[in-house]
Amino acid sequence: MLAVVERWKTIIEPFRIHSVEPVRITSVEERQTALEAAGYNLFNIHADDVIIDFLTDSGTGAMSRDQWAAVQHGDESYAGSPSWYRFLEAVQKLFPFKHVIPTHQGRAAEKILFSVIGGPGKVVPNNAHFDTTRANVEFTGAEAVDLTPVRDPRERAPFKGDMDVGALERLIRECGADNIPVVFMTITNNSIGGQPVSLANLRAVRKVCDRYGLPLFLDACRFAENAWFIKEREAGYAHKSIPEIVGEMAALADGMTMSAKKDGLANIGGWLAMNDDSLAERCRNVLILTEGFVTYGGLAGRDLEAIAQGLDEVVDEDYLRYRIRSTAYLGDALDAAGVPVVLPIGGHAVYIDARALLPHIPPLEYPGQALAVALYREGGIRGCEIGTVMFGLHPDGTETPGPTDLVRLAIPRRTYTQSHVDYVIEVVKWVAARSDQLRGYLITSPPAALRHFTATFEPLPRH
Ligand code: F0G
Repeated sequence: MLAVVERWKTIIEPFRIHSVEPVRITSVEERQTALEAAGYNLFNIHADDVIIDFLTDSGTGAMSRDQWAAVQHGDESYAGSPSWYRFLEAVQKLFPFKHVIPTHQGRAAEKILFSVIGGPGKVVPNNAHFDTTRANVEFTGAEAVDLTPVRDPRERAPFKGDMDVGALERLIRECGADNIPVVFMTITNNSIGGQPVSLANLRAVRKVCDRYGLPLFLDACRFAENAWFIKEREAGYAHKSIPEIVGEMAALADGMTMSAKKDGLANIGGWLAMNDDSLAERCRNVLILTEGFVTYGGLAGRDLEAIAQGLDEVVDEDYLRYRIRSTAYLGDALDAAGVPVVLPIGGHAVYIDARALLPHIPPLEYPGQALAVALYREGGIRGCEIGTVMFGLHPDGTETPGPTDLVRLAIPRRTYTQSHVDYVIEVVKWVAARSDQLRGYLITSPPAALRHFTATFEPLPRH
């Protein structure tokens, strides 16, 4: 296989298509009508009215033949199902934590963990919280602090997902270690561009945690993509296997939250894992109240099977090479066309810098939303605003510009072909060439937590 990779430049999809889903081709007029009915919120659009759905890479990937076969092995016993044991073995092979608690998705793991260890006065540092992680921390009255250094989005550094270790230490001194129940590291760092975290950084964070007696947890949704970047970019790892690299990441942590909808290659599922016996017991008590019995969590036996098989497939190097390369294919083409994108291109998504592309739209008029709506209207492409709509509203009801205004084009795993991506490139270039015609938006619904899911908008008149 290596010989093929070395000899030919083109990296092909390492699979053939086995079963197909139709894509409905819509007109601009149909999409404009859909937008008006949706209050210009792309989460309110019927997915049949979307041509290329890059809203998220979460739960939207294609399962393999072997995963569908595994689904048939699903055993739905309430307690002690063989599917649970297969799941447990697959998780612990990669992440040998003592306790594994299955959940229906990542945020359920977060909800359980933070309802046990959060609360008023507590502070949770993370390189960058994903929005549900932040919301689950804040829901308990605790504070969520992001510690990724602010950097030029166009700077091509290999590990831009890393945490600022000095800032972590200052935060611990300021708040007192007793008020910090856990330190989190999100791999890859979704909120700032799907950027990887290096093992060197994980080790440095671990050292600080050890100095203050703090547990370190991974938000490991995209652990395999992160491991691939380490293999490609970090000195000393080119010849290590992906499971070995994952093992090194896991060995530095005391526990993890996981959404199997990403690097579990499944459509649903997740887990919470840790070594601490008493923490595990408290979490399992909440699990039984909210998710289900300890051997299935919020999942059917068939889901546990699909995840177990997915975990075997996601660490395959041919898959990861294709995955990371196909994301870069989209990002590099946009970059070459002069569309401002976060560099280097991340693992699961391409992030267009809407604030840079639309300097005439101030952040509080949501340039990310304006661009996301335009991509949908012109080409039926559904991306996701990651900016002031998502992060601008604070728990006290005030609003400030988000740190950036990005539109994320998240790529479902094993789902779209290169010609789909060529179409996306053409549409984005067309919209970017006419970006001066785009207008800002006004939010017309009352403020809500996680408002990007529910807000409705109205286009503003031209300035
Ligand atoms: N952590 C990270 C880094 C995530 O990206 C997500 C989900 C979660 C936790 C929560 O997992 O969806 O299974 O409850 N991210 C999706 C996205 C929704 O589109 O980026 P979940």
